[in-house]
Amino acid sequence: MYTLTNSHGVEIRAMNYGGIILSIRVPDRKGQLGDIVLGHETLEGYIPNPPYLGAIVGRYANRIANGTFTLDGKKYELPKNDGPNTLHGGTTRTFDKVVWDGEPLKGATGVAFSYLSKDGEEGFPGNLKVTVSYTLTDADELIIEYEATTDKATPINLSQHSYFNLAGEGNGDILNHEIMINADRFTPIDKNLIPTGELRPVKGTPLDFTTSTRIGARIDDNYEQLVLAHGYDHDFVINRRSNDNGLVLAARVYEPTTGRVLEVSTTQPAVQFYTGNFLDDSVTGKQGHVYKRRYGFCLETQHFPDSPNHPDFPTTILRPGETFRSKTVFRFEAK
Ligand code: BGC
Repeated sequence: MYTLTNSHGVEIRAMNYGGIILSIRVPDRKGQLGDIVLGHETLEGYIPNPPYLGAIVGRYANRIANGTFTLDGKKYELPKNDGPNTLHGGTTRTFDKVVWDGEPLKGATGVAFSYLSKDGEEGFPGNLKVTVSYTLTDADELIIEYEATTDKATPINLSQHSYFNLAGEGNGDILNHEIMINADRFTPIDKNLIPTGELRPVKGTPLDFTTSTRIGARIDDNYEQLVLAHGYDHDFVINRRSNDNGLVLAARVYEPTTGRVLEVSTTQPAVQFYTGNFLDDSVTGKQGHVYKRRYGFCLETQHFPDSPNHPDFPTTILRPGETFRSKTVFRFEAK
């Protein structure tokens, strides 16, 4: 386990199992520290970890339809763990369930986790070397950097699956948080939560968060997309100028009772906004807290789900000789 601290008392703990972020303690507007991520107090709590609390997800974050894709003329079959689909990389040796090598960063407050995902593991081609680092800065940022190389072409989509509750983990649902998502479009899903291929404008729908809105304001609206996902569980296409692959603001969340703010910036093309619709009282977490439906939200920066089966989506194929790099910054403050 690695503990990162900064001069403002911010403390982040992470472990080499699953690269899981165990806790994030940040001040509220009165300076009171609180832990704002769902999780467990012991390793055992994470085995198993069906909601992927705090974990790195891969080799392919989110869904691949029917657990199959074709790459360079060859068809690959993956283990299915979500109805007909493969979710978050498969069943057994997925990035959330393996032991990574941890190494403290030199010259920064952080840790780098490395893992070699072997050729054929969970059905994916190529030996994939992955490093994910967590850095805490004195500007109260958690910087997450992903890097990967392969010896055979493979799809890759890496994300971080922390569930936030800015009022404090276990402290009720997240419906009164206000969120702005910097996205004019999203990728609508079918009944299996697989993108249909459409990029739909959010305008005029309950997925329009271009101005800050209470998460709960429209979550139970009778809008097909919300009904299918039992709330928000959608991939938002982050607004950016074409050819700009730099860091852009993806989302900002404000919790009115504590004043805590979470701001997410990323180099990734999209963010999955998931409101913990499938948390169902089955998880007892820290301090005996029962994590009920919508007790946490995730902002998973990523590529679009099921991209290997959508040639029109930005590519997720990494080839030998290339290096995959992405960066996401979670910045914390209180107002
Ligand atoms: C997905 C949800 C899924 C959850 C698993 C999210 O990334 O979008 O549909 O239930 O992960 O905990």
